[in-house]
Amino acid sequence: MIQISKGQILFRQGDAGDSAYIVEKGQIYIYLEQDKEEIPLAMLGQGEIFGEMSLIDNQNRSASARAAVDTSLSVVTKEQLMERMFTADPVVKLLLNVLLKRLRLQNTALLSKEAQEKEKAKANAQRELIGASNEAIEQIKFENLVYEAFRKNQFEMFYQPIVDLKNRKINGCEALLRWKDPEKGYVSPGVFIDVIESSSMVLPIGMWILDQSMKDAKELIAKKNNPNFTVSVNVSTKQFADPRFIEELEGLRKKHDLRPTNIKLEVTERVMMEGAVVIETLRQCRHIGYEIAIDDFGTGFSSLQYLSSMPLSSLKVDRSFVMKVNSDPKVRAIVHSLIFMSKSLGLEVVAEGIETEEELQSVFAMGAEKGQGYLFSKPIPFSQFLNLEGV
Ligand code: CMP
Ligand code: MG
Repeated sequence: MIQISKGQILFRQGDAGDSAYIVEKGQIYIYLEQDKEEIPLAMLGQGEIFGEMSLIDNQNRSASARAAVDTSLSVVTKEQLMERMFTADPVVKLLLNVLLKRLRLQNTALLSKEAQEKEKAKANAQRELIGASNEAIEQIKFENLVYEAFRKNQFEMFYQPIVDLKNRKINGCEALLRWKDPEKGYVSPGVFIDVIESSSMVLPIGMWILDQSMKDAKELIAKKNNPNFTVSVNVSTKQFADPRFIEELEGLRKKHDLRPTNIKLEVTERVMMEGAVVIETLRQCRHIGYEIAIDDFGTGFSSLQYLSSMPLSSLKVDRSFVMKVNSDPKVRAIVHSLIFMSKSLGLEVVAEGIETEEELQSVFAMGAEKGQGYLFSKPIPFSQFLNLEGV
C-alpha cells in the first residue's frame, strides 16, 4: 500500500507504464495535458483500478493521474497483471486490445488537431499487438471452418477394433471422429479435435457422434451376432457438465434400441478435476448401466485417490507406456503396477497402441484383458469394419 498526498502527481501522460493501482481510500483525478491546459477524464474512487492500459497494450500512459485528496493505493505490478493476461484466451486478449484502442482514440479526440496528429504518429510507431491479434483471428476462423465442415456433413466415424487378448476376438471398437474435406481429403484429427473440445460446439458435435456411433453399434451387434458388443465413444468434460446430457444420451440409446452395456463412455483424467456435478453425472450413467473407461491413463494428472472414488468399469493404459514396455524397464514397472492397481480396483484393463506381437505378449502376461492398436487394425470406415472378420 502506498500513500500519496493531495496534489501529488503519480504519473504523466506519455510516461512508460510500470504498474497499475487500486484506490483503497481517497480520490484520483485522471486528465489529459495539452500545453498548459488540463482536460478532465475521470475522478476515481475506492475500489477502482487505473494505470492498467499501458501495461496491457504496451504503449505509454494514456493520461495523467493526480491525487485529488490524500489517497492510499494498492500497487498491481506489471508482472502480476501479465501473469493473468498470459493465460487469457487469445480472443479475450484481442477484445481487450480493441477496446483499449477505442478508448485511446476517444481520449485523443478531446485534444486539439495539432496534438491529435502527434498522438497518431506515436500510436503508429508503437503498433506491435499484431502477433496476438492474428493468432486470435486465426483461431476464430478455424473454429468457424470446423463447425462449417460439421454442418456440411463432412464428418464421419471410423472404428478401431478392441480385441480380447486371449483369443484375438473383436468384442468391441472405439468410435473415432474423422473429417473428410472434399478437396484436401482427410484432415489430421490432431488439428481439429482439440478445437472442437475447447469450444461449445463440442455439445452438438458430441451428440452427433453419439447418435452416429449408436446407429452403427446397432448394426454391428446384429452383423457380429454378439449382444455383448461394445462401442466406445469419447465424451468430453464439457458434455458431462451439460445438464441435459443424460436425458439426451438416454433419448438416443432408446431411439437406437440399445442396451446401456453396449456403450462405453471414454473420459479423460481431466474429468476427475471437474468437481462434484460432473462426477455425479458419471455416477448416474454408470448406474443406468453404461460402461465407463478412463482414457489415456497416466498422461494427465492422475490422482489415485480420485481414481478409487470414480464410477469406472475400465482403464485404458496410454500408448506412450505400451510403446516402451519392452525397451524401458522403468516404463515396464509402471505398466505392471498400473495393471495390478486397476485389477485390485476391479477394473478391466485395455492396453492402447499395441503395435507388435512382443508388446501384446508383455501386456497380456501382466494381466491386461483387452488391446487396441495397429497390430490388429488402424481405425477404418464403418463399412470396412462391418466386414472385418478377424485380426
Ligand atoms: P494508463 O494508460 O496505464 O495510464 C493512464 C490511466 O488513466 C489509464 O491507464 C487508465 O487507467 C486511465 N484512463 C485513461 N483514459 C480514461 C478515461 N477516458 N476514463 C477513465 N480513465 C481513463
Ligand atoms: Mg479414446
